[in-house]
Amino acid sequence: MSLAIDLARSVPKGVDAVGVPVFEEGTVPRSLGLSRAGLAAHGFEGKAGQILVIPSATAPTMVAIGLGPAASVTADGLRNAAAALARACSKRETLATSLADIAAVEPRTAAQAVVEGLALAGYRYVELKADKSAASKLHRATLVIGGSRMAAATAGAERGLATSGAACLARDLANMPPAYLTARMIADRAVEIAEATGLGIEVVDEHQAAEMRLGGLLGVNAGSVEPPRMVKLTYSPRNPSGHVALIGKGVMYDSGGISLKPSDGMHVNMKMDMSGAAAVLATMSVLKSLKVKAKVTAYLMCTDNLPSGSAFKLGDVLTFRNGKTAEIHNTDAEGRLVLADGLSLATEETPDAMVDIATLTGACLVALGTKIAGVIGNNQPWIDQVTAASKRTDEQVWQLPLAKEYRKLLDSNIADMKNIGGPYGGTITAALFLNEFVGEIPWAHLDIAGPMNVDADEGWLSRGATAFGTRLLIDLVSNFTKLPAA
Ligand code: BES
Ligand code: MN
Ligand code: ZN
Repeated sequence: MSLAIDLARSVPKGVDAVGVPVFEEGTVPRSLGLSRAGLAAHGFEGKAGQILVIPSATAPTMVAIGLGPAASVTADGLRNAAAALARACSKRETLATSLADIAAVEPRTAAQAVVEGLALAGYRYVELKADKSAASKLHRATLVIGGSRMAAATAGAERGLATSGAACLARDLANMPPAYLTARMIADRAVEIAEATGLGIEVVDEHQAAEMRLGGLLGVNAGSVEPPRMVKLTYSPRNPSGHVALIGKGVMYDSGGISLKPSDGMHVNMKMDMSGAAAVLATMSVLKSLKVKAKVTAYLMCTDNLPSGSAFKLGDVLTFRNGKTAEIHNTDAEGRLVLADGLSLATEETPDAMVDIATLTGACLVALGTKIAGVIGNNQPWIDQVTAASKRTDEQVWQLPLAKEYRKLLDSNIADMKNIGGPYGGTITAALFLNEFVGEIPWAHLDIAGPMNVDADEGWLSRGATAFGTRLLIDLVSNFTKLPAA
C-alpha cells in the first residue's frame, strides 16, 4: 500500500501511533510518559537505532526512537530511524512523528530522508500472494513540524515521496518473475510511464535493432524465443543546464546462455539482472515532477540470456553498433555486450556525461560485498559527482581503478577483444571492455551486482530487490554540474 504523507504543526487526533525522537542526552519528551530511567529500565537509552514501543489501551501507541547524541544526527540517521519506526508500526494504519523536526539536520533534507525511510521500509512485494497480510498496514504518516521549518520540510517531503516512489517502482520491476516481465513487457511499461510522466520515448524492436546494427543486444538475444527491446527515453527541459545519458543493463533473466549457470538457488535472483534498467526507468519517471534542469537521455538494453539451438556460442564474433568486434569466450559475460551497444548509441549524441548501471560481475560482489557498488570511470570529477550523490542518498559506492595495464587481458586473436579477461580483477576487466564504447565522453560505470538484492529486511531495505542506484541517479542528475574541459 502506498503511503500518504501530510505535515502538521501538532499531532492530529486519532492517530494510531506517535513516534517520538529521543536523544542519548538531555530531556526526554514528556509525551512518552516515561522518564529516562523508566526508558532505560526497558533497555532503551536513546542510542541510534534503538526503538521502544509503548502500547496503551486508550491512547495512541507511543514509540521512542533513539537518535544518539543530538548534535550528531545526520540525514542517514533519520532515514534509518524512520525505517525502524515504520517497521515497528507496520500493523498500525496511521502515525505521527516529529522525527523530521531535528535541529541538526536541515528541514528539507530531514523531511526527505524521513519520508524515504518510512516508505522504503514499508515496501513489500505482495502482488503474487493470495494472502496480502505481509504488506505493511501503514498508509498515512503525519510529519509534525514546528515554526519556520514548515515550508522547507514540505518541499523535502514531496521530494522524498518522489524518490521513494521511484525506488518502489524499480523494486517491483526487479522482483517480478521473468515470465511476468519480458523485454517486450518492460518496453510496454516504459511507454505507459513515459506518457504519464512527460518523457519522449522510442522503442526499438528486433528488426530495427538489426538495421541499427545492435550486434551485442541481438547476439545475447539469439537463444531466446522472446525478442529484445531497446528503449530510449528522453527528458528535455527548456534551456537545459547540461545533458546526461543513463544506460541500464536490462537482462530480463540471465541463465548464462550456453555457458549455463549451475542450477543453485542464488540464480533465482537472475530475474533481477535487469535492475540497472529498472533503476534508470524509475529515475526517468520523476525528472519532470522534480523539475530537473539537465536534459537526460536513457537507454534500456533489454533481452534475456538463454541457451538454445539458436543461441550465440563460444567462438562467435559479435559486431557492435560502433563497429568494434568481440570474440565470445563466455556467454555468461553478456551484460557488457548489451551495454556496448547502449554506450555506443549514447556516445553518438555527445552528452556532457554518462553513467551506466548494471548487475555486471560476481567479482564485484566478492570484492565489495552486498552493501557497496563498484564505480569505475574515465573522468575523476564526474566520478566525484557520482560519489557525492552516493553520500547524499546512502547508496554506497567504492571506486575501483580503470587499470589500462589490464586491457591486454581482453586481447583476442581474431577480434578487437574477447568478452572476458582472466580469472582476476573481473570487475575492472568488464569496465575496460565498456571503456571501448565511450570514446572521450566523461563516463562512470556502476556495478550493482552486490547490492541489487537483500535476503532479509534491514533498515530501509526490504527483502528482495533493493532498487539500488535509483535514488543515487535521481540525486546525480538533479545536482548535475557541467564538468571542466578535460
Ligand atoms: N548477471 C551476472 C553478474 C551477477 C552475479 C549479478 C551475481 C548479480 C549477482 C553477469 O552477467 C555474469 O554472469 N557475470 C559473470 C562474468 C564472467 C563470466 C566473466 C560472472 O560474474 O561470473
Ligand atoms: Mn551473465
Ligand atoms: Zn548478467
